[in-house]
Amino acid sequence: MDEVARQPSVQESAWRLLKGLRPRAVDLARLALIQQQPAEWLAQPDHLVTLLPQLGLNDEGLAEFPPALHGSCGQGLRIWQYPIQFGPYLAQLARLQVRSYLELGIRHGGSYLATVALLERFRPLDFAVGVDIIPCAAMTEYQAINPRSRFACLNSQSAEFTALLQQYGTVDLVFIDSHHEENQCRREFAALVPYANMIAFHDISNIGCPGIAKVWQEIKALPGWTCHEYTEQYPGLGPYMGIGLAIKNSRLDELG
Ligand SMILES: C[S@@+](CC[C@H](N)C(=O)[O-])C[C@H]1O[C@@H](n2cnc3c(N)ncnc32)[C@H](O)[C@@H]1O
Repeated sequence: MDEVARQPSVQESAWRLLKGLRPRAVDLARLALIQQQPAEWLAQPDHLVTLLPQLGLNDEGLAEFPPALHGSCGQGLRIWQYPIQFGPYLAQLARLQVRSYLELGIRHGGSYLATVALLERFRPLDFAVGVDIIPCAAMTEYQAINPRSRFACLNSQSAEFTALLQQYGTVDLVFIDSHHEENQCRREFAALVPYANMIAFHDISNIGCPGIAKVWQEIKALPGWTCHEYTEQYPGLGPYMGIGLAIKNSRLDELG
């Protein structure tokens, strides 16, 4: 086919857009709000729902956030999550004694930094890896504070991602929050299954991401996994976002 006449695929256009995005610095000092709290306090979902806006939320999808949270957007860690969903999800993680963490799609670092800081109030992680196709300004600074953390700037659809997983062998928990497109999400899940004990997904109930909802329904029907959902909504919006957590039954058995 004539290369000049060829139209870019949806995937190619999306990746071009992503590579045009610029990373923003985040305020790592906000992590102290997690580090100074007793572990028992952090295990309470309601406490986390209140704490997350204080850590700072992202402002790139402001219309999806309720007006009451707008004052927290574009601040601090720039977490791109709904506190009413992410709070109960993190509280569940607090009960799982997570050993290592990989987040696929970290943007400014928000949810990755908050998750790692919270998990480490319960147990030091063996390692934590943030993965994104675009650079993340916060990660170099954070690695200097937390040497167990590293950033891998790569495409989840490349052989480099498989090599990264092979290097670690097993990752206890993975959070997939990347391109939000059905085929990519399905491929990411398939790539992770041999390596991950627990896999969480973002946007399982987002009206704009029907493909992720479809993949999530497929996963819920698989044998050998126990699934949890965190999909509460703010009145008058969405439905947006939504987190699903799939845990291998063999991993749950270890908890007793
Ligand atoms: C919604 S943002 C992540 C938000 C972040 N988890 C948070 O809550 O603060 C999605 C990220 O996925 C990344 N991404 C999309 N496709 C990717 C791919 N194929 N490989 C790696 N990262 C990808 C984008 O660059 C973007 O930074």
